[in-house]
Amino acid sequence: MCGIVGYVGTDKSLEVLLGGLKRLEYRGYDSAGIAVIAPDGALNTAKKAGKLSVLVDELDANPIPNGGTGIGHTRWATHGGPTDRNAHPHLGDDGRLAVIHNGIIENFATLKDELLADGFTFESETDTEVAAALLGREYRTTGDLNEAFRRVVSRLEGAFTLLALHQDAPHVVVGARRNSPLVIGLGEGENFLGSDVAAFVEHTRNAMAIGQDQIVTITPDSVTVTDFAGAPVEVEPFEVAWDASAAEKGGWSSFMAKEIAEEPDAVANTLRGRLVDGAVHIPELDGLGDEVLAEIDRITIIACGTAAYAGMVGSYAIEKWARVPVSVELSHEFRYREPVITDRTLVISISQSGETMDTLMAVKYAREAGAKAISVCNTQGATIPRESDAALYTHAGPEVAVASTKAFVAQITALYLFGLHLARVRGTLSAVAQRDAIAELAAVPDKIATVLESHETIAQLAKWMSDTRSVLFLGRHVGYPIALEGALKLKELAYIHAEGFAAGELKHGPIALIEPGQPVFVVVPSPRWSDEMHKKVVSNIQEIRARGARVIAIAEAGDAAVLPFADEVIRIPLAAPLFEPLLAVVPLQIFAMELSSAKGLDVDQPRNLAKSVTVE
Ligand code: F6R
Repeated sequence: MCGIVGYVGTDKSLEVLLGGLKRLEYRGYDSAGIAVIAPDGALNTAKKAGKLSVLVDELDANPIPNGGTGIGHTRWATHGGPTDRNAHPHLGDDGRLAVIHNGIIENFATLKDELLADGFTFESETDTEVAAALLGREYRTTGDLNEAFRRVVSRLEGAFTLLALHQDAPHVVVGARRNSPLVIGLGEGENFLGSDVAAFVEHTRNAMAIGQDQIVTITPDSVTVTDFAGAPVEVEPFEVAWDASAAEKGGWSSFMAKEIAEEPDAVANTLRGRLVDGAVHIPELDGLGDEVLAEIDRITIIACGTAAYAGMVGSYAIEKWARVPVSVELSHEFRYREPVITDRTLVISISQSGETMDTLMAVKYAREAGAKAISVCNTQGATIPRESDAALYTHAGPEVAVASTKAFVAQITALYLFGLHLARVRGTLSAVAQRDAIAELAAVPDKIATVLESHETIAQLAKWMSDTRSVLFLGRHVGYPIALEGALKLKELAYIHAEGFAAGELKHGPIALIEPGQPVFVVVPSPRWSDEMHKKVVSNIQEIRARGARVIAIAEAGDAAVLPFADEVIRIPLAAPLFEPLLAVVPLQIFAMELSSAKGLDVDQPRNLAKSVTVE
């Protein structure tokens, strides 16, 4: 939600900022802007509503001088619509300083009233302009950018990452964060700030993550971090695990096409080093201690959207293997219902970005109430793993397309690893069952690769269905969250009404939606696992078929029972039941992506969305 980049170094700010914004555009694409201090000390800005390309065209038409210090922003609108005026940067001190911001300043109305009473006027409807005006006023009082900035951020409430520069301090960028991300990139004679490492990974892989309520000051040769009171803070460096090419589109038509194709690797890399001699090995959990895991009496998985559906899939496996009750809750619902939490509760949060505000707040709430927290996360240095007792990273690589695909399969993989680890600690799974599950897990990457071979067939289906107005998805057991995920992908990518249902729920209401021609995807469980469950789903298919539904079945290779009743069958390789979701979701992702393309939509940046939802 809003991408931020800051740079101090040589006179190449324009290239660094625009390159960084290009990589951060997935965080928000309502408008974009930059501010650069030119070699003669003048502060110049450019900002435009629309995607980054609109700003680039504006800079081509009306260039601004390059310089060694600058900040850039790509916006997902909160306060004030996506207009040129509301785009960042916002200026203060009579145009001598510039500010960019991610988040929501909750007390902005009070601050604005105070400034209005003081004679300030405002051009935009944003909370950010209030911060810029406040900074200008404090700078006039103190004559010191750092001191003025400290005073301002100490007065702000809510969630924010704020970057500022002033033409009186031409080689300095200051930044601060509260409940919103900010990382430092360390270069030679140059330093960077970014909402995430994608902002600067093209220039350096040496990074540091700034903690909660901290301020950073970068110059070309120094990086200083303090708390809001000005006391120095030690920050741990880390090396970014991927290079710039991992976040490039390469020859693919979209980031999403590339990311779906990377799913076998996303699973393999998440497993790498964690299956040792036929046993699951997760050293990252050592800090939490086996004694703690042995004693927990319930697990609550918290997440939003696609990550929550991964959590639902994971809950079936963890509960089955480790015999602990597992519930899954949407982060934004969790803390408002006063859940029962004790020191024997384990909270597992799932977040690709590691920055989702709803999930972050739920983790904090749970820990304050005594729970232990594990973060399943795909982003190094992100806030949620830092706020947890242990982090189990997925290694899906950077996910740039706004809608999640490869992170989903990596999240399920990580949860399965955790489930097997917990089962070993608690002694709840026989050696044979552990061995079989590990063998199934290890085979997933190759099986996903087999599913990917059906891409063209699924693309054809999507083309035929491109004027469809509504699609339903059905599944049972672990197929149910896959039905929900299939529907979510279609809604967000193709803007088509879609709903997922538990197949057993059909007769309790949703079957009324079925009319002749209604397309319904059905995730069919393997008959080898439970003949009863398979038969029930085949009966569900017959019920909707009898009412004219057009059935597209996702069924394992060799399942002939679905053939008489399905209009289309998409085959997935044989897998043990708990592992089917990792295969069945792939055709649904491809279908949604191809339908979106067939409608001429932007697959990577669907309307109204942002990848990292850092406001509640
Ligand atoms: C949907 C999608 C979202 C995210 C959700 C959580 O395709 O990507 O539903 O899964 O916003 O995001 P993270 O995982 O970053 O917490």
